[in-house]
Amino acid sequence: MVILGIDTTCDDTSAGIVENGHQIRSNIVSSQYAAHSAFGGVVPMIAAREHTKQIGLVMRAALQEAGIGFRDLDAVAVSNDQGLLLSLVVGVAAAKSIALACDIPLVGIHHLEGHIYSALMTHPEALQFPFLCLTVAGGHTLLLRVEQHGAYRLLGHTRDDAAGEALDKIARRLGLGFPGGAAIERLAQQGNAAAYAFPRPMIHERNLDFSFSGLKTAVVNVLDKADHYRLQDVAASLQQAVVDVLVAKTLRAAESEQLSRIALGGGVAINSLLRKQLSAAAAKKGIQTFLPARALCTDNGAMVAGAAYYLLQHRGADPLTIPARANAPLGRLQVQYRHPAKYR
Ligand SMILES: [Fe+2]
Repeated sequence: MVILGIDTTCDDTSAGIVENGHQIRSNIVSSQYAAHSAFGGVVPMIAAREHTKQIGLVMRAALQEAGIGFRDLDAVAVSNDQGLLLSLVVGVAAAKSIALACDIPLVGIHHLEGHIYSALMTHPEALQFPFLCLTVAGGHTLLLRVEQHGAYRLLGHTRDDAAGEALDKIARRLGLGFPGGAAIERLAQQGNAAAYAFPRPMIHERNLDFSFSGLKTAVVNVLDKADHYRLQDVAASLQQAVVDVLVAKTLRAAESEQLSRIALGGGVAINSLLRKQLSAAAAKKGIQTFLPARALCTDNGAMVAGAAYYLLQHRGADPLTIPARANAPLGRLQVQYRHPAKYR
């Protein structure tokens, strides 16, 4: 089964072609970094405008790279839930047009499902249910118990900033530009991770929630008071603090849920230190870690197509009336991981 997946959730316009849930035939991502960099963050109106300009070109490139045409598609999938509303609308409108014109099933995917499925796509045989999933990115930091296809239980989430959001904000303060996660990781490679004892928020609390806004404040305080600091050391110490919290909480969740498999997903899952230290700490406890392919970590269309392959079989196609929603409960268990007012 060949599926076109579209993701226009935030500031990347992406389309990917995936066969049978895991064979990636193309995965085109058009980044909007240049359009937003002057503002230090994503500007929703600009994001929507750029998606509108790029969506047709990106879909055509995805089809060309896969060596197929629209008539070869068996289904079209789109991230319709969770993201910037005006951005989501562009992808949803494109997907509906294709479903209608080609008379093929339409599958609406919650954007987080794409991130969850990126590890399943990378390890389609080995990663068995149930498993723990840490999805960590600029917009969310969540620990989920994945029971079955489309069935998730929330174990913990961030009470304020997401991990990637905190990294982006600190990077902006350091003058590293936007997005900041990659710049911090690059600098950290030449830094001393023990140079600054930044806090590890909530690391000793028994719950499985996160908080990263305090860490951001602590870093800014150090920078404001210091006459001189070495950027590489700040980056390395900051990165280590974030990774320590993510690893500790994830292992605690796996042990308390008696899960022997951990999957990682989301933009911060591309971070090499997190991948290495989570895998090593889990292995010491006899827990297997399933890392997503790096190309599936940041927002992309292939992960949407991969998730759709499985979810189409388990819950069927969606009608042409599916809405785009900035906030939406996750999966058939309707997990709410933001304030209830967001879902009205
Ligand atoms: Fe994302």
